[in-house]
Amino acid sequence: MGKREKQKQKHQRSQRGKGSYNFHQDEDGDIDDTAPFSSLPEEVDKDLQEEEEDEDCVDDNTDEQEQDPSLDMPSKFLLYQQSVQSPKGDISYMQKFFLMYVGGRMPLHLQEDFCGTALLSTEWLRGDSRKTAVGLDLDLEALDWCMENNIPKVGADGFSRISLFHGNVLQPLQSKLVKMDPRQLIESISLTQKGDDVQAGVLESNIQEGSAAEDDKIFKRDFPLPGRDIICAFNYSCCCLHKRAELVLYFRHAREALSSKGGIFVMDLYGGSSSENKLRLQRRFPNFTYVWEQDEFDIIQRKTRISLHFHLKKQHRKLRHAFSYSWRLWTLPEIRDCLEEAGFRSVHFWIRAMPDSTEIARTEGFGAGKDIKYEEATSFEQQDSWNAYIVGVA
Ligand SMILES: C[S@@+](CC[C@H](N)C(=O)[O-])C[C@H]1O[C@@H](n2cnc3c(N)ncnc32)[C@H](O)[C@@H]1O
Repeated sequence: MGKREKQKQKHQRSQRGKGSYNFHQDEDGDIDDTAPFSSLPEEVDKDLQEEEEDEDCVDDNTDEQEQDPSLDMPSKFLLYQQSVQSPKGDISYMQKFFLMYVGGRMPLHLQEDFCGTALLSTEWLRGDSRKTAVGLDLDLEALDWCMENNIPKVGADGFSRISLFHGNVLQPLQSKLVKMDPRQLIESISLTQKGDDVQAGVLESNIQEGSAAEDDKIFKRDFPLPGRDIICAFNYSCCCLHKRAELVLYFRHAREALSSKGGIFVMDLYGGSSSENKLRLQRRFPNFTYVWEQDEFDIIQRKTRISLHFHLKKQHRKLRHAFSYSWRLWTLPEIRDCLEEAGFRSVHFWIRAMPDSTEIARTEGFGAGKDIKYEEATSFEQQDSWNAYIVGVA
């Protein structure tokens, strides 16, 4: 069996076993965390670090473990969503920015670039049936996972209001619409909406109408979409672009996709004196520990490698390097210059200082700094650690 096939089977098994886990989730499937940016763990815990070092010999990929159903692992995407993302906080800030800098209408059409499992897009669709979302990412496995696990939770019309594209943000029009095998779609609907015959019926008719499922190659350039009110790139995704020319090109594409009636581009960035070093932060959740690891920081290229690990308590298992990114840590003025060069009319910074990491370990522990709000700033004194939203107004 090929490695990919093996992984697929393992992934399917983990989906089946998902219901048996008791994760810290609200009924919509989100972490109940109103503060945006849970992306950087806020706890530095030396005991856990020692525990991690001692247990490093545990291999999460052995055949023996694959054969034992009691050791079934949750999907890495589920763990990521629960520990890294807080879409509700991001959405409320984006709506506030839109009303402040554009105004005159409610934002309805979102594009989430670097969307991964498009959790934010699916959250966006809730509560207003006029809302639509577009997601774009290079990772087909993450997009497929979204189709199977996130969109069915939105409700009957979820699939008709979201379009996911597989491709590169630098060539967005060449990205391809993600299709879903109709049989798999029906299966996921019946699993998530068991007993709701009306909703399942509506979705079945959507599948037949949508030729997307029939056609392998529907490109974004051939897919008519209303101008976007908001385009976002979260969890430091712009750091995946390493060259200035790429950043400007990406911002140009974003500006072109925004509505001619006005729209905003929103991204995030982290920084501070502690961010230009090797870093290891951990945060405990009821059933697992999330570890953020940043390698040495190259001050000439401003590059580093980020790895996300998950330690599952019940299974005594580790998912090391579940996600790994090579990042160039851009500075705020670099981002502003590139946005302006790409044609944005104005650029705004909303910043919050994060609690000093060593201080957190000594005193407050997990959750420290959650209540600190973002403030608009034109000047900001360097801190141990900060997070920022950057808003480009088209
Ligand atoms: C740090 S993750 C962020 C995922 C999600 N936006 C979030 O908020 O958690 C970065 C994502 O960007 C995607 N990515 C990296 N480079 C890309 C590119 N050039 N075009 C499209 N997606 C890209 C990766 O596949 C990954 O899903």
